[in-house]
Amino acid sequence: MTRPIRALDLPIDEDQFGIALAAALRSHPRRISPKFFYDAPGAALFDQICDLPEYYPTRTELDLLARYAGEMAAAIGPHADLIELGAGSMHKIRLLLSALEDPVRYLAVDISAEHLHYHASLLQREFTGLEIIPLAADFTRRFKLPASARASRSRVGFFPGSSIGNFAPEEACQFLAATARMLRGGGLLVGVDLIKAPEVLHAAYNDRQGVTAAFNKNLLARANRDLGANFDLDAFDHYAYFNPYDTRIEMHLISRWQQEVCFRGESFSFAAGETLHTENSYKYSIKSFQALARQAGFQPQQVWCDAQQWFSVHWLTMA
Ligand SMILES: C[S@@+](CC[C@H](N)C(=O)[O-])C[C@H]1O[C@@H](n2cnc3c(N)ncnc32)[C@H](O)[C@@H]1O
Repeated sequence: MTRPIRALDLPIDEDQFGIALAAALRSHPRRISPKFFYDAPGAALFDQICDLPEYYPTRTELDLLARYAGEMAAAIGPHADLIELGAGSMHKIRLLLSALEDPVRYLAVDISAEHLHYHASLLQREFTGLEIIPLAADFTRRFKLPASARASRSRVGFFPGSSIGNFAPEEACQFLAATARMLRGGGLLVGVDLIKAPEVLHAAYNDRQGVTAAFNKNLLARANRDLGANFDLDAFDHYAYFNPYDTRIEMHLISRWQQEVCFRGESFSFAAGETLHTENSYKYSIKSFQALARQAGFQPQQVWCDAQQWFSVHWLTMA
């Protein structure tokens, strides 16, 4: 029999998006956190991105997990209490769960509550004996673990998808240090996208079907839907490129012409070519990521990498 799911959502600050958008529109250059991409339509668009031929990160990380899940499970050890940050559609955790010896619990944290609950219930049907707890929360803010997980001694974090790359290196270091404190002596399995030829990166973030463009523009569509903004979606283009100095993909919404946008009674002008910067995706070398992990208080252990050296999965323990 399938266990009943016990969701433990934290109260989400309803107006977080509105406050962040107003602040972004008032500042120059304009910038907003990528966490606002992920309402239900945004989460569905991200799933489509994962299936695109150009989007190598998901495919490559899934291959690494499929190939090395046994080694990863051996490194993690038995009775792991798993905490995934940004669980999404939970495809990757399936591979790990199938290889782990007697995992005790799987806590799936994600900001996209509807998507999270749906996928947690699907997973529960597959792993009937496992305690699965969806926790809708923002992992960039402090959040309290449920009492059962607080009592656990062997916590293992899982942070795939190179979501660590959405933070600037100094923020990533702080985030990893906070994660290390939360794991209290356990380890972290983290997926990290690697620096590679710009044309491969460029194609991955500028797919031919325009799904990434729709995902990026969903931020404006969401603002219109949820916050009553009046963005003209045809007046902005998706704009993504590799910035080699900062080794990051930058994703922007670029204004096609001079225009005014109205939001909450204020008018904001966009000059032609002016952008709203929506996401960074930092790329690392294995060495530079290991140095960052050490700085955050982790001891890098095994690294699994594909033959092309496009993507890496790192097992980090406490120093
Ligand atoms: C790039 S997707 C990765 C999804 C999945 N882990 C994977 O590897 O395919 C990022 C995921 O993190 C979630 N997310 C983004 N920002 C978040 C935040 N601040 N707090 C919690 N979840 C967040 C999104 O809803 C999304 O599911």
